[in-house]
Amino acid sequence: MKLWGGRFRKETDSLVNDFNASIHFDARLYQEDIQGSMAHARMLSDCGIISPEDNRQIQEGLAAILADVEAGRVEFTADNEDIHMNVEALLTQRIGAAGKRLHTARSRNDQVAVDLRLHLRREIGEITGQILDLQQAILEQARAHTNTVMPGYTHLQRAQPISFAQHLLAYGEQLRRDVTRLADCKKRMNVCPLGSGALAGTTYPIDRFETARLLGFDGPCSNSLDGVSDRDYALELLSGLSILMMHLSRFAEEVILWCSWEFKFVELDDAYSTGSSIMPQKKNPDVAELVRGKTGRVYGDLMGLLTTMKGLPLAYNKDMQEDKEPVFDAVDTVKMCLPVFAGMIATMRVLPENMRRAAGGGFINATDCADYLTRKGMAFRDAYTTVGNLVYYCTQQGKLLEELTLEELKNISPLFGEDVYEALRLETCMGQRRSHGGPAPEETERQIRELEAFITEQRADRHGA
Ligand code: ARG
Repeated sequence: MKLWGGRFRKETDSLVNDFNASIHFDARLYQEDIQGSMAHARMLSDCGIISPEDNRQIQEGLAAILADVEAGRVEFTADNEDIHMNVEALLTQRIGAAGKRLHTARSRNDQVAVDLRLHLRREIGEITGQILDLQQAILEQARAHTNTVMPGYTHLQRAQPISFAQHLLAYGEQLRRDVTRLADCKKRMNVCPLGSGALAGTTYPIDRFETARLLGFDGPCSNSLDGVSDRDYALELLSGLSILMMHLSRFAEEVILWCSWEFKFVELDDAYSTGSSIMPQKKNPDVAELVRGKTGRVYGDLMGLLTTMKGLPLAYNKDMQEDKEPVFDAVDTVKMCLPVFAGMIATMRVLPENMRRAAGGGFINATDCADYLTRKGMAFRDAYTTVGNLVYYCTQQGKLLEELTLEELKNISPLFGEDVYEALRLETCMGQRRSHGGPAPEETERQIRELEAFITEQRADRHGA
């Protein structure tokens, strides 16, 4: 018979039983469910709602169930629908009457909300650790390439010279925002719905502040209807994960381009690439492609839950049971992508000569040439036009700016002098861009120190937490 069987005179249809059950996906909340129940029972006992002896039996019973689940000795059943009723039924089977008192002043509606918050809070911690590891891999590669000149692009057209370090560090910044975005989400998530009951609180003299404190929340949520019906925390997490995946996907796209024969800026380690079943020469960036592909799936998880929540009246509705699979899927996907991505970045071989060669074509020092004339006294807009004419002349002659003779240059502007050749060297062009955030080695070194400090601080926080 069901825990809620009293009102019913017929068995649930077996199709309905399976349809209604969520145990096959919410079983993963077992630890948080037990943790939540332990706090609830302790509070009930502290408030004199159950006896200390009942509480003692409940605590021991739950601890034993936890150990048995972890040792694989427990089989959950769809007859008990979800993790909450499975644990409660097991407890009652084992300890009898005291087990039946656990659900006093509680509903599955506040129970599931507290479980999910506890669970996702923990997952945020793990994902944050993985992002920091990826940032570390970026940092190591960046350190080695502060002097590696590569073409910077806009519109995927060669634009201005940058260093490979600076390019990588841009991803470091994106990930830095991801870490802080998840931390913001965790902060808002960290409010305790337990004690909201089914929707309208309870007549028992419970202490919601105590359970909140016992479970490490910042406090109880303020409105019981909101407590059981709010899934913003799951949506915020999905949004944060979607943005994170968008970053990984952009990075993945560049890795894919960089490995192509058209670019050949990097070569992926054999351990992080795959072959073709027919073309013997192939070495494919499957890891990067899959990360790019899985991004769509995480967006889908976000859209799915947003759509599930849209139009739900207050407070709890069974639709909300559909919250877990997309969140779990997104969390699993992200947790699979991050370490493999970090490994790919850490082991990829950078080919600086090819980057330098690519930077050498495409007139990426044209802005610097205009800046040269500006330094000699010409207004920038005139210098811009002058260099535009020079570039046109070069394309007619099949030459680069630095290959023009001083005479050819002077024909266009008498301001050109011998020192222009030094000004046009890509190393100079890159090295002179010392503005805050720029590619000059001393600037990228500052960015490296900043990212390094961030990683250290975040890791310390995590261990302190
Ligand atoms: N398994 C349910 C869920 O995941 C738990 C809450 C069920 N509450 C209810 N009144 N049916 O949402």
